Amino acid sequence: MQQNPHMHPVSRRTFFALGAAVALAACSGDDTTPASTAPADGEPSTTSPGDPASTSTSPPTTIDTGPELADDPFILGVSSGDPDATSVVLWTRLVAASDPLPDEVPVVWELSEDESFASIVATGTAIAKAAHGHSVHAVAELDRPLLYRFRSGGHTSPTGRCRPAGPTDELRIASASCQHFETGFYAAYRDMAEWGPDLVLHLGDFIYEYGGGAEVAEGRVRTHGSPEIVTLDDYRDRYALYLGDADLRSARAACPWAVIWDDHEVENNYAGIIPEKPEEAADFPARRAAAYQAWWEHMPVRMDAPVDGALTIHRRIDWGDLATIVLIDGRQYRSDQACGDAVLDFSPPCDEVADESRSMLGDDQEDWFAEQMRAASGTWTVIGQQTVMSSLSPGGGAILNYDQWDGYPAARRRLFDAVRSAERDPVVVITGDIHLAGVGRLVDDDGTAVGTEFVTTSISSRANVPEGSESLLALFPDVLAIEAQHRGYTRHTIRRDAWEADFRIVDDVLRADSTVGSWQRFVLERGATEPVASEP
Ligand SMILES: [Fe+2]
Repeated sequence: MQQNPHMHPVSRRTFFALGAAVALAACSGDDTTPASTAPADGEPSTTSPGDPASTSTSPPTTIDTGPELADDPFILGVSSGDPDATSVVLWTRLVAASDPLPDEVPVVWELSEDESFASIVATGTAIAKAAHGHSVHAVAELDRPLLYRFRSGGHTSPTGRCRPAGPTDELRIASASCQHFETGFYAAYRDMAEWGPDLVLHLGDFIYEYGGGAEVAEGRVRTHGSPEIVTLDDYRDRYALYLGDADLRSARAACPWAVIWDDHEVENNYAGIIPEKPEEAADFPARRAAAYQAWWEHMPVRMDAPVDGALTIHRRIDWGDLATIVLIDGRQYRSDQACGDAVLDFSPPCDEVADESRSMLGDDQEDWFAEQMRAASGTWTVIGQQTVMSSLSPGGGAILNYDQWDGYPAARRRLFDAVRSAERDPVVVITGDIHLAGVGRLVDDDGTAVGTEFVTTSISSRANVPEGSESLLALFPDVLAIEAQHRGYTRHTIRRDAWEADFRIVDDVLRADSTVGSWQRFVLERGATEPVASEP
């Protein structure tokens, strides 16, 4: 992975665009609160107190938050992510308005039980490096929900809430995807932060790569303000632009996130190392590497920086013995879409689609996935992933979207085989991508149901389905319900005996202050494959 040895502040334009909203959200800093520090000597710290359960503080008399920084470096907010039973990743990324940041900036993180941080439960120091976009991914040990914040250069970050993935009998997950900045505001995130879930599961399309106005002729509520993004600096600026939204920042700070990417974090419908447009093949590896680097820099993920343009993001989160959450990557290793990646083509598919060697996950990840199914021990087995897995075939073998699992039938068969051979309860698959809310049945070729799919609608990206076509889609036998005209997210409440999915919808995505309500609630009994609709 080639990186510019010089630092990359966000552009002045982006910085000032972040503006006043940030000033409202950010805590003002004072550096009088004492805290203990780990040596600022290199990699992001995994330092934690000897006894994370302790609420006592053992502060030294001074704290080094590094050289004074003229501007508040914390305007992109804070986030936490990838919790395990005893720890969580704390994320921030420093940016500078004017003077470049030093190559290495010490950043102190603190955990506390109270908003004032008068009593520090744990603290450590990470080094924000220019080569990593001055991002911080610090692993903090904890045994209960706590507040966290960062301090650096005389400034204090906003406060976030984090927690471990400890034993519980109820887990609340908000699933989200697809948040095109130009086509709507983030009222869904405001509603999500108010709900206060245990985990946000983001299924991709966190940013869109398009140039300002390129895809949005009418009804734009705000602009990307730059051409299509290609370079590392471009991608960094795009993330900074999106994180300028206060509702997004508040949801990012509300609880830990588990994030995977889809295509628009790089480019629409890319497959592996193959770009959407064949004529751009030569430059695409560098573009993808830049995009992956920027994604890593902005996400609260428990992984090292990309190496040689590759980043392993498939992983497993065990939430006590209640849920085994398997996150998969259907972009980085997939075979190219078959039959010219046609959409809404009702003719029989070309021969290529049946090729057994075509893969959605790549061979290694397929093997890994089968291992996770065998190793899963949670009451619920959950798969977080990108594109629709339920069949959307209207009969006659036609494939309406070759980018989805329908376009990779052999790979889907192998995935279902892995699920079935584990001989566990049916799985729950959580999906994003198609900008509609839906419930699907996952059915193997022999007619056996292997699980349920909950498709979360987009946070703000436009509907792909023209108004009125819901009735058409409902004719597909494996689609149980669909709502395509509203933006939103899904609240999943997971208990031992049942899973409840509450589909939240935004009344008017063109208004930041829009009300948010429920379209429908579905209850899936443990062991069942067909959820039952209940009142919203
Ligand atoms: Fe999308």
